[in-house]
Amino acid sequence: MNRRRFLGIGASVLGAGALAAVAVPSAARLLAEGRPGRLLSSELDLPEAFRAPLPVPAVLSPVRNDGTSDYYEITQRTATLEILPGVRTEAWTYGGSFPGPTVVTRTGRAAVVKHRNELPVPSVTHLHGGHTPADSDGYPVDLLLPVGSSADAAHAMSGMAGMAGMDHAAARTAVGERTYTYPGMQRAATLWYHDHRMGFTGPGVWRGLAGFHLVHDDEEAALPLPRGERDLPLMIADRSFAADGSFRYPAVDPRLAEPGVTDAYANGVLGDVILVNGAPWPRLDVDRVRYRLRLLNASNARLYRLELDPQPAGGGALVQIGSDGGLLAAPIRHDGIEIAPAERFDVVVDFSRYAPGTRVRLVNRFGSGRTAEVMRFDVTAKQLTDDATVPDRLAAVEALDASAVVTTRDFTFRRSRGDGWTVNGRPYRPGRSIATPALGAVERWRFSTDLHHPVHVHLDHFQVIGRNGADPGPYDAGWKDTVDLRPAEAVEVLVRFTDYAGAYMLHCHNLEHEDMAMMADFTVR
Ligand code: C2O
Ligand code: CU
Repeated sequence: MNRRRFLGIGASVLGAGALAAVAVPSAARLLAEGRPGRLLSSELDLPEAFRAPLPVPAVLSPVRNDGTSDYYEITQRTATLEILPGVRTEAWTYGGSFPGPTVVTRTGRAAVVKHRNELPVPSVTHLHGGHTPADSDGYPVDLLLPVGSSADAAHAMSGMAGMAGMDHAAARTAVGERTYTYPGMQRAATLWYHDHRMGFTGPGVWRGLAGFHLVHDDEEAALPLPRGERDLPLMIADRSFAADGSFRYPAVDPRLAEPGVTDAYANGVLGDVILVNGAPWPRLDVDRVRYRLRLLNASNARLYRLELDPQPAGGGALVQIGSDGGLLAAPIRHDGIEIAPAERFDVVVDFSRYAPGTRVRLVNRFGSGRTAEVMRFDVTAKQLTDDATVPDRLAAVEALDASAVVTTRDFTFRRSRGDGWTVNGRPYRPGRSIATPALGAVERWRFSTDLHHPVHVHLDHFQVIGRNGADPGPYDAGWKDTVDLRPAEAVEVLVRFTDYAGAYMLHCHNLEHEDMAMMADFTVR
């Protein structure tokens, strides 16, 4: 099947008949046609795997609290990190580390995060999966200019950001500091925050602007799930390094004045070093008990199929308890999990299923060579009792009702000749809204693709109700905010926006596609 045929399907996936006609691509075709990026090799020798201990990002302490809110401060700045042993890498960081500090909040309490920008570039911070008012959502032209920028810089920066033709008054530009308010009216979930600057999200995240934001609630706290040191966020991200130790990235303009990557990397940038929480192929000693692993794919473009190797007898090693939007109704056992950029899977692994001394590798079946390995768990011999379990019923998950749908909308994600990456045939333009859902209404959104695109919607999570005219896939369960579409796929979701009117976005979370305009605004009214 050639490219044109894909495009033809992409354009016609509007009726149920066409949906049914779209077959799930075979793995071979996926690699040939849908490869979501190109490998960028590092220019220095890569370290041996499984030497570095797994780092766990520090939890950020609030600077103060009051009856309703917790107040945090994060300074965005460059920092020299030792990511590869003996190699100095200048990173763009939240608070001096990569990943940034983990923000931990409680449902019903607001997190008020003041960001100070000491980077050499403007920034925009988005809480991915956050149920956030529009003015704190990190709309991509709501720039936070570096400390000390002049007023004129705003105008110049907006030109750089590709905002030509936009009403500049509509952009909320700040200088030095900006406070983002996250009201916290959402379920317990694994969220993350990252840079979202217009045209430069790819290089910004690649250089280190990403961190976890975990929400807890009473429903989750009442469950006997692993907690404390046995509840581990794992940010998986591929990167490449230049000969001088810096992050290597194929920007068209190395000074990052103009957005975009060189043509060869237009389909996405794949690194050859797999980092977990900022360390290359790390290792962790684990006791023979259950651990909760909050898997996040923070890669720009790489798709992983994660498996444990060896599999424990009987398989089903990865017991999924949560998705992007928090706990599932009931656990799902997987032998492997396919995770696209920005997706999160909360899994519980019971290491007592392995003999003491087993070295259990977390592998990537979609990788090859060095990218086929992720990290290693070394099972200790300690005899411990495990008071954690995974209950058969996890949480009350409301199912959105398809019969309540008031509007159906189609969004096609494709490359168009001349315009680059587009949504519904048009490249992104800030302020141009392509949908106006009403607060509280249930809508059916249908996504379709030409090539490989992980589709992300801001403001509220959605539920996948169909894939290619059939049932949802094995990784579609629960509340999602990012859903992976393979070449020529079509996915139907139900979504209901609540609480906050205003301009939000949906976009491809392949960051090279996003930066090259595969985004669109919708306006909740
Ligand atoms: Cu994680 Cu709009 O992004
Ligand atoms: Cu894409």
